[in-house]
Amino acid sequence: MQWSRIAVFASGQGSNFAALAEAERAGRLGGGRIELLVSDRPEAPVAKRAEEAGIPALLLRPKDFASRELYEAEIVAELQRRNIGLIVLAGYMRLITPVLLAPYAGRIVNIHPSLLPAFAGKDAIGQALDYGVKLTGVTVHFVDGGMDTGPVIAQRSVAVEPGDSAESLAERIHQVEYELYPEIVRALAEGRVMLDERKTVIRE
Ligand code: GRF
Repeated sequence: MQWSRIAVFASGQGSNFAALAEAERAGRLGGGRIELLVSDRPEAPVAKRAEEAGIPALLLRPKDFASRELYEAEIVAELQRRNIGLIVLAGYMRLITPVLLAPYAGRIVNIHPSLLPAFAGKDAIGQALDYGVKLTGVTVHFVDGGMDTGPVIAQRSVAVEPGDSAESLAERIHQVEYELYPEIVRALAEGRVMLDERKTVIRE
């Protein structure tokens, strides 16, 4: 498995997918190559973005499968056919089962719009606003069997401004995501992210 051969998983808008594809085009993913988009919502805007970027897509409906495990087994077969070595979740709205986790242990990452472990799970931006924090942000982390619980690779903070709405805060968080994710995906694709228990180090 080669770290540089990347599959991005996404369920929705795909603005992070687009930022990653643009980073690759501009030479900012180093040797990293996005070989495949995987989506569980064939009608999602991200599918169209893949088509426009000329990136192959595996579009499956989980409900067409008898179980989550059979759905993921189909994905794993395609990933292995393409010799994918790094899975980048970008707004993929499903928990991953051991069928995918086991063959890709330590090779799946996610981006989450809060400073984990604060505000894990759905609607992290709304949770942060409701709580009244002054500082939130973005986390890139390895994926384990839990909900946003894997080892942290990188974090950036974003200040909550007086009068922020979910939309205005999300907009600033997204801008940070579009910078941070390509940078970290590049480091992963180049094999520069070291993991020791829960501690990660990015080599220069
Ligand atoms: C991002 O905010 C990401 O942090 C979260 O889901 C959102 C996906 O947005 N995991 P998009 O589909 O990339 O536009």
